[in-house]
Amino acid sequence: MKDFRLKRVDLRSDTVTKPCQDMRRAMVSAKVGDDVNGDDPTVLLLQQKVAKLLGKEAGLFLPSGTMSNAVAVRTHTQPGDEIITEEQSHLYLYEGGGYAALSGCSVALVPGKRGIMCPEDVERRIRRAEGSRGHYPNGRLVCLENTSNRGGGTCYPRYIVDAISQIAHSKDCRLHLDGARLFNAAIATKEKPARMVRDCDSISICLSKGLGAPVGSVLVGTKSFIEQAHRWRKMLGGGMRQSGILAAGGIFALESNLNRLEEDHRRARLLGESLAEIGGLSIELDSIETNMVYVETVKPASSWVEALFGKGIDCFPLGEKHLRLVTHLHLEDEDIARAVIAFEEISIQMNQ
Ligand SMILES: Cc1ncc(COP(=O)(O)O)c(C=O)c1O
Repeated sequence: MKDFRLKRVDLRSDTVTKPCQDMRRAMVSAKVGDDVNGDDPTVLLLQQKVAKLLGKEAGLFLPSGTMSNAVAVRTHTQPGDEIITEEQSHLYLYEGGGYAALSGCSVALVPGKRGIMCPEDVERRIRRAEGSRGHYPNGRLVCLENTSNRGGGTCYPRYIVDAISQIAHSKDCRLHLDGARLFNAAIATKEKPARMVRDCDSISICLSKGLGAPVGSVLVGTKSFIEQAHRWRKMLGGGMRQSGILAAGGIFALESNLNRLEEDHRRARLLGESLAEIGGLSIELDSIETNMVYVETVKPASSWVEALFGKGIDCFPLGEKHLRLVTHLHLEDEDIARAVIAFEEISIQMNQ
């Protein structure tokens, strides 16, 4: 039974956060214009800010990370091209097959270790029509995901991004980074975001995950890439009018919530270390690099989710024997402590 007296501890995702009062105030008082005509000053400011932070020439505000990735794939490729991505990547698993439906691309899947591809595997998967008597498609775009969601919030070391980019470019491929949680990766690896993405041709970042804005993603790249991406955004129906209201939430999020991501990482580690002591659960502690904890369960994950729900804790099952727990800006240390107690009680009830 759900206990409605308690504040729920929502560990389902970092997308569940709601804008705080200060963010809402910033949104209400945002200066706006018609962004389809390019004259919303708040959208322009957000785009410039993200482009500058990532060391790129220009940026484009989009409604979601999925649309950002779709626009990037469409801008970099032609129908009949192939994209190269990790086999558990969000772009491949969870974006409705947009690369095929919207860009007419096939996909070459690369195995990863906790979501992280190695440069040699990427190299092996890049196919070119030339020299294949026309049998192969042209591999045109390598896509990385940093942090890797299905990998458990794992990070690419900078030298691997550099090496993959070098391989991609040497084979006349572009490199797109799905950086929905790029700032988590930058903080965890102590890298400057601009250095991490130095050799990437485009990067999409999300404002509505750990950063806590209600909506939005920004795609960055060269000026000419963004000009073309602007046209594809229009065609996909992503041109928004007085979207400065939304962009203001994004600016607030970047200014107030970026450095605090470290707290989410600390709490994820605290949670993981505490749960690792509990019977019926197992956790690879060295896989906890940012704000996610993947837990393997002896009993079915669905029975854990149901029992946790009754104790005010929300989380998602991942397959039959895994749970995914995600920390974010609405969680305090005491919420982590409550979650751990709930897990302990359930473990005893389940007789583990
Ligand atoms: C790695 C990654 N990329 C892209 C997305 C898509 O973002 P959105 O939900 O804004 O479409 C997500 C969403 O969870 C994600 O985890």
